[in-house]
Amino acid sequence: MTRSDYAEKIPNNVGLAEDRRLQRALESWQPDFLSWWESMGPTLPTQDVYLRTAIDVRGEGWAQFGHVPMIDYRWGIFLADKNPDRRIAFGAHMGEPAWQKVPGEYRAELQRLIVIQGDTEPASVEQQRNLGATAPSLYDLRNLFQVNVEEGRHLWAMVYLLHAYFGREGREEAGELLHRNSGSEDSPRILGAFNEETPDWLSFYMFTYFTDRDGKYQLGTLKESAFDPLSRTCEFMLKEEAHHMMVGTTGVDRVVERTAQVMVENDTDEVAAHGAIPLPVIQKYLNFHYSVSLDLFGGETSTNVANYYTAGLKGRWLEERRKDDHQLTDDSIMVDALIDGDISQTEVMALTGLNTDLRREYIADCAGGVKRWNRILADAGLPQRLYLPHIAFNRRVGAFAGIEASPSGEQLTASEWEARKGQWLPTDTDKTFVRSLMQPVYQRGKIAAWVAPPRNGINGQPFDYDYVHLA
Ligand SMILES: [Fe+2]
Ligand SMILES: [Fe+2]
Repeated sequence: MTRSDYAEKIPNNVGLAEDRRLQRALESWQPDFLSWWESMGPTLPTQDVYLRTAIDVRGEGWAQFGHVPMIDYRWGIFLADKNPDRRIAFGAHMGEPAWQKVPGEYRAELQRLIVIQGDTEPASVEQQRNLGATAPSLYDLRNLFQVNVEEGRHLWAMVYLLHAYFGREGREEAGELLHRNSGSEDSPRILGAFNEETPDWLSFYMFTYFTDRDGKYQLGTLKESAFDPLSRTCEFMLKEEAHHMMVGTTGVDRVVERTAQVMVENDTDEVAAHGAIPLPVIQKYLNFHYSVSLDLFGGETSTNVANYYTAGLKGRWLEERRKDDHQLTDDSIMVDALIDGDISQTEVMALTGLNTDLRREYIADCAGGVKRWNRILADAGLPQRLYLPHIAFNRRVGAFAGIEASPSGEQLTASEWEARKGQWLPTDTDKTFVRSLMQPVYQRGKIAAWVAPPRNGINGQPFDYDYVHLA
């Protein structure tokens, strides 16, 4: 097992020092990454931030915490430990040893999967770059930057694979990952949700809840990959990703908690005048982020994804816990479909319905968040509840892309949708209001009025810790 080399220019546990060519290639990509970070990363000037840095992949000691200038963050390459006996768990190659090299026949597909995953990582940094200017507390500011540096590290993870296993084409793709930009007219990011802006902190919490969670499920399928270096990379990324989920989950918790508090204290639903975010506005943000994240899973059926599965490139969520033959050649699945213009379902081969399978796992997970937010409302003695909108609501990808539906799944004509969508999606008025609340709070231990403080600080530190030193 290669130990972590933290003293190197590029910290890594992949034995980079023994592969001069690769090391040189990555060291020449590094300045491009840093200049991308400087020009497209966080805009708020800071001296240092209390950050977690990955230094190893094992046990408790995998990360260290300390105040570091962000540009000096040690973006490294860390793969989970190799299991020399690992065997492919599904598809046509099931039972064969996992691949340590890229099989020529699957090269193009694997490269594509890695590029798509890699593209989302810097995209979210770009989307979130201006949020520091309106952070509700130093604690939140630190969490934002933590998410940002780790998405940067996830880019490194994918770039490592491209450089190490995909030759010249891989190096070119690694360069492109820094040239596409979120929301750019000429060279946008590959996936739609990653070209939306994240203009305020409610959006940020919703993004880290719903869109980072999509990332968790995508990584989960790649973790099953027969291509072992990809599997091990994703396994370790998932470890970091857990913190991003926590930021989203508890972020929305705290917004709901504060709103509920203000509702109860003032005995009113009209909390905007009291500087809190009204529940219907929270619901609209939820509707938006959930529906655009559902689109990230692609169409209900996909022969590409069926082929990826059969080839062993991409598995199912928790593949090894599934109690079936892991081939799926004889199975079927009901998928959402538009039948004679109606929202319905149809039976397809399980293999072609794999996007649906993954989307359903994701939806079940999202329901958990809604449940906890509703518990906060219930505990405050309030009758209102949040909900996940219908799967056909506001979709731009898949079976329902061509129709409009209300959050309860009622089909609408285009003109009905136009007339009513402002009830369900954030309007300009809603966004302007939310933005008006986004005044920065940079004093230690203080917090903006629209969000409750967290229950716990970071790494055992109190809420009023000096998480960030501004420049
Ligand atoms: Fe990530
Ligand atoms: Fe993330």
